[in-house]
Amino acid sequence: MYDTYFPVTYYFYPLLEENKELQEFLNSFNVPVTDSVETLLYVHIPYCQDLCRFCPFHVRVAKDFSVYERYTKALCTDIERTAQSQRGTSSTIKAIYFGGGSPSIFSPDQLKRIFETINKSFSLTSDVEISFEGEPKSLSDPARLELLREMGVQRISFGLQTYDEKLRESFNIAATLKDVEAVTSRARDIGFEEINVDMMYNLPGQQLGDLEKDIQRLVADGYDSIDYYNLHYYAFPPKFKQEMAEGKVPPKPSEPIMLALFEQLRSQLGATGYTNVADQVYSKKKDVCEYFRLLWGGGAGAHSAETLAVGSSARGYVNGVAYMNYGNVNRYMDAIEGDQSVVEKISSRLHKPENRGAVMFPKFLHIEKKYQDAIETIPKKLMSDWVSQGIIYETETEFRISEKGKVWTNNMTTDLLESRQRDVGDRSVVALAKKPGKRTGSF
Ligand SMILES: C[S@@+](CC[C@H](N)C(=O)[O-])C[C@H]1O[C@@H](n2cnc3c(N)ncnc32)[C@H](O)[C@@H]1O
Ligand code: SF4
Repeated sequence: MYDTYFPVTYYFYPLLEENKELQEFLNSFNVPVTDSVETLLYVHIPYCQDLCRFCPFHVRVAKDFSVYERYTKALCTDIERTAQSQRGTSSTIKAIYFGGGSPSIFSPDQLKRIFETINKSFSLTSDVEISFEGEPKSLSDPARLELLREMGVQRISFGLQTYDEKLRESFNIAATLKDVEAVTSRARDIGFEEINVDMMYNLPGQQLGDLEKDIQRLVADGYDSIDYYNLHYYAFPPKFKQEMAEGKVPPKPSEPIMLALFEQLRSQLGATGYTNVADQVYSKKKDVCEYFRLLWGGGAGAHSAETLAVGSSARGYVNGVAYMNYGNVNRYMDAIEGDQSVVEKISSRLHKPENRGAVMFPKFLHIEKKYQDAIETIPKKLMSDWVSQGIIYETETEFRISEKGKVWTNNMTTDLLESRQRDVGDRSVVALAKKPGKRTGSF
């Protein structure tokens, strides 16, 4: 039923739209949350030391580092304002995620002030999970690592991407493999509970043997969990694409090779003790971390978990609506300093909010039958086609995506979108095709 891989992975739902009226949504922050809703706090720091040539995110490279100080102050104000809203005062935060960009490039003092502002502003659960994403060069600094541990971070995550030195260089990855080694051993010595790395496959010119070598080294280094992404080529700068066309950089693998690489990845990691706990996530634990669980709705079929988002280009979900803060950092800081709202874009409300639980089902690789309302938003014919094609199978308590089906999770997600959302998605894919190299952030 599927024969071509759909290139866009949706991480947030419902989808953001242009020109939506914001005022009604902003009132959601004046409404308390009900007790049963679980909440994630997402904190975004959009700066990086340098730009990797594959990266589609809204990242900035600062020429003048004094902007880090201005951003720290704005972020702390954003945290306080969000926490003081009715939504904030009625929420208890179960997980905190620092994402970017590369939050680790801020100084220990700036990071400490951000943590302290969160601690004094929000109510946190006693076992709140705190994850911190950085890039290996700045993260290998012992002072930063010590500070993060002192601030209660349990999960540390950084981009390793590949061990292939030539590709690292052509991608312009600032961190060296020595930096990676240093952060890994220091983070272990300091005693973080989980070290996660981001890796990518489907790299220019990648063959099965190259991937095998990457995974062998990865397994030898013994990371607790791995986010293994299929490299998307759409954000590559035109100059880099040109170099690929001229043969200076090897070409994108063909689709059959990409699919073979994906199969190899799952079988090699599976054989070495990693469980495929979610789409693109492999872990020594048996389940996905709290960050992903809450970001994607609260569990395999749940839809109500909320995300309070602070920082430029941070994405959240409140009262049935997804939102994004200003992607332009200056505009974000100006708005905070002028006591204005920082929300730039929002989504529509879903016709059935339970559909969020269905759309996130391929991320969890299963959907529990107890989420009947979510399952009912899936067209019956689609479910029966998936079963008859061996893409999903039924157990007593859930529907699970098969090994065959794991290849098609992007296609499945697209088929699960409510029809109006599907139109929004189609429009952004068309816009993307017209503007290759554009930084999109994630979808
Ligand atoms: C927001 S980045 C943060 C990580 C951190 N800044 C670093 O690079 O060390 C999250 C991850 O997305 C992945 N990523 C970036 N660009 C990608 C692309 N074009 N296709 C697929 N994954 C990508 C990378 O693995 C990256 O580490
Ligand atoms: S991959 Fe990470 S370090 Fe590279 S530009 Fe993107 S966010 Fe920055």
